[in-house]
Amino acid sequence: MIRIMFVCHGNICRSPMAEFIMKKLVNDEGLSEQFLIRSSATSTEEIWHGQGNPVYPPAKAELKKHGISADGKYAVQLQASDYDKYDYLIGMDTMNIRNMKRILGADKEEKIYKMMTFAGRSDDVADPWYSGDFRTTYNDIDEACRGLLKYLKERNEI
Ligand code: 4NP
Repeated sequence: MIRIMFVCHGNICRSPMAEFIMKKLVNDEGLSEQFLIRSSATSTEEIWHGQGNPVYPPAKAELKKHGISADGKYAVQLQASDYDKYDYLIGMDTMNIRNMKRILGADKEEKIYKMMTFAGRSDDVADPWYSGDFRTTYNDIDEACRGLLKYLKERNEI
């Protein structure tokens, strides 16, 4: 079982997009049973009295264009205990990585990654929060998810 946690600031745009794109890629290859895929936030901005907000409507709409549903997903915050529960903890940008380390502690097992490294890139996933450009975000995340799947195959993890 490969356990993946995608992480962003609010868990309503980028990391849920990554969660559901990765689930789709894995499902299309008949590999769903070998994976546990979740997403979470470094902040509590989208969580009120323990109840998380749903995926942001434009992010949901972008996923829907590609035949992907994000129904039933609500924002949750990353927990320190998640470090032992996941094999790959993947942040969308450099600030996410910094905040993840604050929550998870020192990355002793080197499980924390920045998303676009799986596409051979050192930049951040395009943040749609201010740009409103969800298409570029989708493309970045799709590229990285495909790269991650390839990486796992090359390492004989699946
Ligand atoms: P996300 O987007 O981190 O991709 O889910 C954001 C959501 C909320 C905020 C910023 C980015 N916010 O500032 O509340």
